[in-house]
Amino acid sequence: MSQQRMQGQPMIILGEDSQRMKDRDAQSHNIQAARAVAEAVRSTLGPKGMDKMLVSSMGDVTVTNDGVTILQEMDIDNPTASMIVEVAETQEDEAGDGTTTAVAIAGELLKNAEDLLEQDIHPTAIIKGYNLASEKAREEVNEVADHVDPEDEALLKKVAETSMTGKGAELNKELLGQLIVDAVQAVTVEADDGGHIVDLEYVNVETQTGRSVDQSELLKGAVIDKDPVHPDMPTDFEAADVMLINEPIEVEETDVDAELKVDSPEQLQQFLDSEEKQLREKVDQIAATGADVVFCQKGIDDLAQHFLAKKGILAVRRVKKSDIKFLKEVTGASVVSDLDSAEADDLGVATISRDDEDELFYIEGTGDETHGVTLLLRGSTGHVVDELERGIGDALDVVATTVADGRVLAGGGAIEVEVARRLRDYADSVEGREQLAVEAFADSLELVPRVLAENAGLDAIDTLVDLRAAHDDGQVRAGLNVFTGDVVDTFEAGVVEPAHAKEQALSSATEAANLVLKIDDIIAAGDLSTGGDGDEDAGGPPAGGMGGGMGGMM
Ligand SMILES: Nc1ncnc2c1ncn2[C@@H]1O[C@H](COP(=O)(O)OP(=O)(O)OP(=O)(O)O)[C@@H](O)[C@H]1O
Ligand SMILES: [Mg+2]
Repeated sequence: MSQQRMQGQPMIILGEDSQRMKDRDAQSHNIQAARAVAEAVRSTLGPKGMDKMLVSSMGDVTVTNDGVTILQEMDIDNPTASMIVEVAETQEDEAGDGTTTAVAIAGELLKNAEDLLEQDIHPTAIIKGYNLASEKAREEVNEVADHVDPEDEALLKKVAETSMTGKGAELNKELLGQLIVDAVQAVTVEADDGGHIVDLEYVNVETQTGRSVDQSELLKGAVIDKDPVHPDMPTDFEAADVMLINEPIEVEETDVDAELKVDSPEQLQQFLDSEEKQLREKVDQIAATGADVVFCQKGIDDLAQHFLAKKGILAVRRVKKSDIKFLKEVTGASVVSDLDSAEADDLGVATISRDDEDELFYIEGTGDETHGVTLLLRGSTGHVVDELERGIGDALDVVATTVADGRVLAGGGAIEVEVARRLRDYADSVEGREQLAVEAFADSLELVPRVLAENAGLDAIDTLVDLRAAHDDGQVRAGLNVFTGDVVDTFEAGVVEPAHAKEQALSSATEAANLVLKIDDIIAAGDLSTGGDGDEDAGGPPAGGMGGGMGGMM
């Protein structure tokens, strides 16, 4: 009562532990947190970017250069920082590559916004300016982009190689680039409208440790990393009838709680006989369909293994669900879920061979309805193949996007500098304070060449000056050769990126920055700074940044 009567005294509606920050404090806090995230990944950008080693709470080690992987493994629990991590995730989902670029641009947009806020420019003007600039930038990207012929293997290979540079895959980019292009082309179909559809679901990536990366290969069909369940089974077939089954080939336990009471040896024998009979029946059912090979997603009883071997049927158990799904595409089989109703129609056809040294089965579909290729990646150790797999995943996505979308750009900062230049021209036509935001947006794009230079140990300012001069001169594809420090036509030099990924990076970075800028009030039920500003923060750059930022504000 007394509180309400006191003029100017705010009513207390929040709990004791909750924290609140308003206006500039809130903005500043959010911007610091978001920028800390961007800072954390920018040293990995580009061919000369470094890797990060991430150690999980369980002690698992990941060594990577991939923006989205770093952020996902980093265990970030600051809410604003998480919004920036989402930028990387959206980028990964939509484009498969460019996650570091997207996050770095988002961070730079916020940094430049902070300067504008300090000049008392209202956040809504900045947001509006950023939206205008982002839309215009995407138009310009489209305008600058070149069209690719989806059959142009040489160009697609460059796209794959650009995406792999700086990653573990780079050392063997010649071979891997070719494998990726071949894989994408194997699953590309022409659409009715003349465009191209790429179905990456038909590309399976399998990894194998022990041999060197240059022994990676692209195989028609599937590779299954399993052993036959019985040593006496045949392992090689010309045109095998293949059954895929997702139920166990075991005795059915009708009632799990049923207690088995055996009063006499005869009874026990009877029980065992009935089990044997059941298993024999199942194997007979399999044989009756005409199957030569069975891939089972679940377990196979020892006795059933023995019966199958006696019938000369190859059986493999505990095959991954995803592999069963892929085998379905490769062999044209349908998945049997109940042996009682299994029939010859459910089977697919494939040539099967066994690689005893690698303990792998190669399954190549021979029917009419066969799709699917497998990229078998090899590497000496687990960490090597894991990072290889991430790099290859990015490159596959990028080449697929390029084939489907048909537009490419010159990389190495060329597109960013060109778009920035065009945005500055455009800014002149924008009224009011939004104009400053459009200019700030242009500056933010130039972060990309600056960081590429920085990470290569070059002078960022000099590089930018040279690049701007080249673009003012009309050299639209002038970018940075990070190996020599020269400004070159990066498209000619083979640094080629898909336009779609750039557009996506621009729009998700803008959205995230605007989301953060719109907030003027943070109300937290608990402590806002994750892990306080104490010693835990010393380890990671983002936590350190946030803790520091908060400490100053409270
Ligand atoms: N040989 C090269 N010379 C100059 N720049 C290059 C070269 N190869 C790639 N780049 C540039 O490097 C940048 C991409 O770097 P990187 O792959 O590390 O980050 P990302 O694609 O944004 O994120 P991520 O791959 O982690 O998802 C692009 O701007 C690209 O143009
Ligand atoms: Mg990349």
